[in-house]
Amino acid sequence: MMVQLKYTISLDQITTLAYNILKFATLKLQTQFIKTMEAERYVLANFKMNKNLFEVKKWAEEFLALLYKGKKLKLKVGCAPTFIYIKALKEMVIGTDLLVGAQNMYFEEKGAFTGEVSPNQLKDISVDFVIIGHSERRNIFGENDELISKKFLSALKHNILPILCIGETKEEREKGKTEEVLIRQISILSKVRDEMKDKKVVIAYEPVWAIGTGIPATKDKIKEAVELIKTEASKFIKNFSVLYGGSIDEKVAEEIKDICDGGLVGTASLDPHKFYKIAQNFDI
Ligand code: PGA
Repeated sequence: MMVQLKYTISLDQITTLAYNILKFATLKLQTQFIKTMEAERYVLANFKMNKNLFEVKKWAEEFLALLYKGKKLKLKVGCAPTFIYIKALKEMVIGTDLLVGAQNMYFEEKGAFTGEVSPNQLKDISVDFVIIGHSERRNIFGENDELISKKFLSALKHNILPILCIGETKEEREKGKTEEVLIRQISILSKVRDEMKDKKVVIAYEPVWAIGTGIPATKDKIKEAVELIKTEASKFIKNFSVLYGGSIDEKVAEEIKDICDGGLVGTASLDPHKFYKIAQNFDI
């Protein structure tokens, strides 16, 4: 049986049709992806160079009491004390829901690197996460994108959840360079090798001008940055959460809970009651 073609269509029309079909299929896939990959939520305490051993333990005791007295939180909570207290804290909270992290690490596994701590050593004491590229490491200790990228990839390789901090300075924002800076800092993710693309990554958007100043970024600014970060990150990795950090208190947490996946908390985390309230407010 012969089928007669009634209409003739040009090559241009075929190309447009094929393009539209592909575009529709990609869009559908993307929507399905967003629906199935719900980002995990985190509220993490960064103690920086604060508290002695007694104070770290007292904090943990009080925080855990609050955590188990109230309604069970769905999000993950964690605390990063100074290196020398990690082991004691980890031992104290074993079997609880509190994650324990490090504020920094070096990328090499061992060797002549005086004063540094390796991923293997962190694994040895069962560290759950590591903060990489905090703005204080970048600005006070001169860490550049290249070093941060090595540390980030090393944490992934050693199965330690990396909390990658990015954010623009006041000057960069004033010069209209926020987007450019964030895209540059996030481009580290392009180095993630194929076999590691499924590994979990947490990105913390921390505008430098909002850290420790008591002046958090506005909801609009956070939303804009978080959306940009999500779009950029999804070009390279699949399984990630985006937190906000910078003068978070319980009010800020309540205000931004819908636009990011949690927070990285400095000053307010030092008080277990304030930190618990922030975690409660982020817990949706
Ligand atoms: P902050 O610190 O809450 O004191 O602003 C946040 C951070 O440095 O991660």
